[in-house]
Amino acid sequence: MSQFPEGFVWGAATAAYQIEGAVDADGRGPSIWDTFSRTPGAVDGGHTGDHACDHYHRYRDDVALMADLGLRAYRFSVAWPRVRPGGVGPTNQRGLDFYDRLVDELRSHGITPMPTLYHWDLPQALEDRGGWTNRATAEAFAEYATAVHDRLGDRVDKWVTLNEPWCSAYLGYGSGIHAPGRTDPAAAFTAVHHLLLAHGLGTQALRAGGARNVGLVVNPVAVRPADPDSAADAEAVRLVDGLHNRIFLDPVFGNGYPPDVLAHLGRFGEPTWLAETDEKTIAAPIDLLGVNYYNPTYVAARPGAPGGGGTYPGTEGIEFRPAAGPTTAMGWEIDPTGLGDLLRRLHRDYPGVPLWVTENGAAFEDRMVAGRIVDAARISYLDGHLRAVHGALADGADVRGYLVWSLLDNFEWAWGYDKRFGLVHVDYRTQLRTPKDSAHWYRSVIARNALPEAGGGR
Ligand code: FCB
Repeated sequence: MSQFPEGFVWGAATAAYQIEGAVDADGRGPSIWDTFSRTPGAVDGGHTGDHACDHYHRYRDDVALMADLGLRAYRFSVAWPRVRPGGVGPTNQRGLDFYDRLVDELRSHGITPMPTLYHWDLPQALEDRGGWTNRATAEAFAEYATAVHDRLGDRVDKWVTLNEPWCSAYLGYGSGIHAPGRTDPAAAFTAVHHLLLAHGLGTQALRAGGARNVGLVVNPVAVRPADPDSAADAEAVRLVDGLHNRIFLDPVFGNGYPPDVLAHLGRFGEPTWLAETDEKTIAAPIDLLGVNYYNPTYVAARPGAPGGGGTYPGTEGIEFRPAAGPTTAMGWEIDPTGLGDLLRRLHRDYPGVPLWVTENGAAFEDRMVAGRIVDAARISYLDGHLRAVHGALADGADVRGYLVWSLLDNFEWAWGYDKRFGLVHVDYRTQLRTPKDSAHWYRSVIARNALPEAGGGR
């Protein structure tokens, strides 16, 4: 039996725009995802987050579901456009009322609330002024963070500033597959910096308010060479690792931007956005690093290959290898060794900060059989990845908790509602929730604080 350390925290994660719905309720302002999802062709099926899981109205039942599973922590996100409908300016207390109620409900069930302050739903009013390409957005974030902390800080102990700034910057401003849908490499790099600055300023603001545990959630990728013996592939790994991992982690851990990455992005224009004290601000000490992991990435040096486009600006001549093994419904390769490698690498290269797996999970084509969802593939995915976490723990990585993505099936961004990641199935017509077999399996893992003897099964 794979026993986890005493006090290991089991939980699940969601994000505001993916589950809340109620986009016009109680003074919420529009976000870039409201705008983007209404743009023809931007989201599969023309889906929007307008109703989503209607969690805004059903949060009590959803917390009861969490309690039934035995979750000890719940990572959700606070919608900036509910709290500051215009991005800056007066705080909308009615928007904060919702999170106030949610936090109380969680605590009354013994579940630790772990809010993320930014999970991609930038107020549209800020995007109209340049969004993350505008330095003022980072300052606005710190003010918004203070407003949330003022209201919830007496009951919330663990704070996350941003979720996956890589996605916000490169998918939002580089490839344009996420909101706000811009396709400008220079804008993507500028956004990276202002997101990091927002993290630093936000961390300072939270701490000034008395917050004790503040962290950042990233989606580091295990970048691997297609041919382990090729020097050219190793170079490709270094570049992609720089653009995806080191560009965020080095400055956050006080080492500043890596020189090779700065040289690379200089090809897209002088980094005029880098003010003298910024790297110091970004290096504000953190108390936890959240790791979201889904799949590894394989790259090869291939002259003439188009590279990663706006997702990895300037990687022409690099081939991103399509998944070779079994995949999830997203087409993402299933390989738990990537998670174990990442946790060991983070522990080695960026020591001293406790790690949390803040998202891990999978979409599969779930089938309902006589009212039951038999999702053996998801159980096997979770089981495999938890064994990888267990292995990293055994090798000394300081991993404190594991949060499944996701509690509920939800709005999977550009893919809409057809990709289902939940432990709990949602019927979007009736809003009926049905815990899947994986939810029952997870409950027994939590109860035993251990994985079952053989992988899979209930
Ligand atoms: C992550 C996001 C999360 C969800 C999962 C599948 O990148 O943080 O909101 O969409 O992917």
